[in-house]
Amino acid sequence: MKKSISIIVLVIIAGYFFIQSSPRDQAGLKSGSIYTAGVKKVIDEKCYTCHSATGKSRFARNALIWDSLPGLPKGKLVATLDDIIKVVEKNKMPPAGVIKENPKMRLLPSEKQILRSWAESRADSLLK
Ligand code: HEC
Repeated sequence: MKKSISIIVLVIIAGYFFIQSSPRDQAGLKSGSIYTAGVKKVIDEKCYTCHSATGKSRFARNALIWDSLPGLPKGKLVATLDDIIKVVEKNKMPPAGVIKENPKMRLLPSEKQILRSWAESRADSLLK
């Protein structure tokens, strides 16, 4: 009897560690919303770490949370899409300090194009 209890306890402990060590969902933008696959990829690689609920900077979270965009009222969404277009055009994001530390974070011309044309066409269709 004692032995079977200790086996049960062992199985529970092993199960606990198994669950702990199994891979989590990869952090990234929730799909199935307003984002195309191409846009999601750019956001996940270059923007999401800061502009998500788990981002470290309060300023970045206050400025933009990608997962909240689909739920914004129309006017606010259009304004945010406009902000996105502006920062991409002016090379303001990711912030210069981050690119200096990690040059891979820089938006490539092709990525700028993807983000910009997506934001422009979203804004256009909202304003129709
Ligand atoms: C390393 C963190 C970091 C990354 C990566 C990052 N941002 Fe930001 N972002 C910030 C911070 C901090 C702010 C708020 C302060 C500011 O405006 O500079 C901000 C502000 C913004 C704003 C609001 C700016 C305004 O003028 O209203 C937009 C839009 C934005 N980011 C878009 C993006 C996009 C698009 C990307 C990816 C291409 C991106 N960010 C990547 C940190 C980040």
